[in-house]
Amino acid sequence: MNNSLTPSRRALKGKNIIIGICGGIAAYKTPQLVRLLKKKGADVRVALTESGSRFVSELSLATVSQAQVYRSIFPPAENPGTDFTTHITLGEWADALVIAPATANTLARLAAGFCDDMLATCFITLRPGKPVLIFPAMDGQMYLSPSVQRNLATLKALGAIIIEPESGELASGQCGTGRMPEPEAIAAHIESALLSMDCPSVLRGRSIVITAGPTREKIDDVRFISNYSSGKMGFAIAGAAAERGANVTLIAGPVNLDTPHGVERINVESAAQMREAAGNFFRSCDIFIGAAAVADYRPAAVIPGKLKKNDPEIQFTLVKNPDILSDFGLQKQTGQLAVGFALEQDNGPANARKKLEEKNLDLVALNFSDRKTSGFEVDTNMLTLIERGGITTELPLLSKEEAARKLLDTIENICRQT
Ligand code: PMT
Repeated sequence: MNNSLTPSRRALKGKNIIIGICGGIAAYKTPQLVRLLKKKGADVRVALTESGSRFVSELSLATVSQAQVYRSIFPPAENPGTDFTTHITLGEWADALVIAPATANTLARLAAGFCDDMLATCFITLRPGKPVLIFPAMDGQMYLSPSVQRNLATLKALGAIIIEPESGELASGQCGTGRMPEPEAIAAHIESALLSMDCPSVLRGRSIVITAGPTREKIDDVRFISNYSSGKMGFAIAGAAAERGANVTLIAGPVNLDTPHGVERINVESAAQMREAAGNFFRSCDIFIGAAAVADYRPAAVIPGKLKKNDPEIQFTLVKNPDILSDFGLQKQTGQLAVGFALEQDNGPANARKKLEEKNLDLVALNFSDRKTSGFEVDTNMLTLIERGGITTELPLLSKEEAARKLLDTIENICRQT
C-alpha cells in the first residue's frame, strides 16, 4: 500500500466513474473535471447529452478521458453491428454516476424514468447502492422553480445525492444561485461519497440533529445579547457525520459558514427559534448533538424600535431560555442518544459530569475557551469525552474537523453497544 496517498486520493484510485454532461454553460468545466479525476486514478467514461454536445466537444472529452464518449444508446449508423447492450454494461461497470452540470430538462427526464439517451439509461442501470451525484446548474429562477424543486425532491427520494449549486454571477449576467462548483469541489464530493460507500459506518442512514453557533437574544430592534461562537465546531461535526452517510440536520444560529455538503441546514436566530426547530425532530431523530452556545438568558421584553440613550443607567430583566439539550435528553426514548458539550472554566470534569446527569446525556464533550487554541472561534479544540458509563477519553489539541471525527468514533462505539 502506498501510504503517501491521502485518504481522498485513495478514494478515487481504481474507481470507475461516469460523468454525465448536460447542456449548460458550466459544461465548459467538464474536460478539466475529467482530467482531474483521471489524475486521481479514476477510470472515466463520459455520457454526453445532445444539448451538452453544443457546449463541449465530444473530441475534447474523448481526448481527456482516453475513451469513447457515449451519447445515444443505439450503435452508430456507420457501425450497426456493434454491441447494443452498452447501456446496461456501462451502468454496471460504474462505481459512481456524476451528473454535472445537470439541467432542468435532464432532471425532469431522470425523475420521470426516461431512458432516451445513454446518460438517462445509466441512471437506471447503475447497480443498487452505487452513488449518484447530481450537480444542478442553471439560471437562479429556473433552479428555484417548483417543477425543478419537485424533480430534485423525487431524485433525492430515489437516493441521489443532490449538491446545491453555488451562488454568484450566472451566465445571464445576473447574480443568483445556480453555479456549478469548480472541478476540485466536485472531485471532493465524489471522493467523500465513495469513501462513505467503502467504509460503512453505523451512522449510515441514521438521523442526526446538530445545533451549532450562537443565538441572538434581542434587546431592541438593533441590538442583541450573544456570544463568540463561530459555529465551526458544530459545522465540523455535521460535515463529518454526513461523510459517514448519516442524514444530518444542522440547526444553525447566525454564523458565516458554508453548509457542509449533504447536510440539511435550518437557520435560526434566537434560543426560542432554535428550540422550536429542534423540537420538530425530538421524536424522530436517532442522535441529538448540542454544539450550539445557546444564550442562557434573554431580555424579558424586546424594546420596540431603537433604545434611546437618555438615561445614565438602564436595567434589564433577563429571563431564562429553554434548555434545548436538556429538553431532548429528558424526553428521549430507548435507542435515541443525547450528546452535549460542556464549556467550562473551572472544575471542568465535575461540572461536565453534572451536566451529563442533569440533562440525561449519553456523552458529553468537555472543552474550555481561551479563544487562542480551544473553544470559541478558533480552528482547533481540545475535547475530553465523558461517557455515561464513566469512560473518559482525553483528546489532544486537534483541528475541529479531526476532533469532530473522534467524537463521532465514540458515538459509533456507543451505538454499537446499544
Ligand atoms: O462555535 P465555535 O466557535 O466553534 O465554538 C465551539 C463551542 C465552544 C461553542 C462548542 O465547542 C461548545 O462548547 N458548545 C457548547 C457551549 C455551551 O453553551 O456550553 P454549556 O456548558 O453552557 O451548555 C451545555 C450544553 O447544553 C451544550 O451542549 C449546549 O448546546 C446545551 N444548551 C445550553 C443552554 C441552552 N439553553 N440550551 C442548550 O441546548
